[in-house]
Amino acid sequence: GFALAAQATLNFTNTVTGQPLDLSDAPAEGRDTEAVKKFLATGVNVYVENPTCLPKGKDLFLSMCSGCHGHYGEGKIGPGLNDSYWTYPKNMTDQGLFETIFGGAQGQMGPMYGALNLDEMLLVMAWVRHFYKDDPNDAVWLTPAQRAAFKRFNEKEDQTPDLDKAPVCKAT
Ligand code: HEM
Ligand code: CA
Repeated sequence: GFALAAQATLNFTNTVTGQPLDLSDAPAEGRDTEAVKKFLATGVNVYVENPTCLPKGKDLFLSMCSGCHGHYGEGKIGPGLNDSYWTYPKNMTDQGLFETIFGGAQGQMGPMYGALNLDEMLLVMAWVRHFYKDDPNDAVWLTPAQRAAFKRFNEKEDQTPDLDKAPVCKAT
């Protein structure tokens, strides 16, 4: 094993079975970024509503998730991720959302730890939070300050820059 398990003070569990997730299944790359270390210790994703990091999250979502969940998470063969209804209510927390992405759910929703590293999962999660189109008051995953500033996502007004024109993603 490696030191990751020792860093994580939260217990991460599979969304369907409730069994502990083995975070050492994750690729070596992306395990020890500042964002990952903070997330594993606190459940806080510093990439959420960080405009410098959204382009990368969008890019990853388009390549890894949109085929099943739709271009902007509107739903396709997988459920919509851009609204306030969640099959698994734990996805209303960033810890729960991470657990579902890392360990998968039922059917076609397989575990993503073979396809995305931990840092990339946090980036995808930030994009999923950003394309939310329902009432910000129901966006319990945001901090109160983020919720107050949040604008419902409208794909016609999406000005997220392409990745090659994006600023450096800086966790703050
Ligand atoms: C369910 C995220 C990739 C198919 C879910 C849920 C989340 C999610 C959060 C639970 C939604 C809820 O509680 O309402 C993602 C992300 C992906 C991804 C972020 C990319 C990293 C995929 C892919 C497929 C897929 C590639 C198809 C091959 C499904 C299906 C469900 C689901 C069928 C329903 C599973 C169930 O209800 O147990 N996904 N997903 N997803 N996803 Fe994905
Ligand atoms: Ca939904």
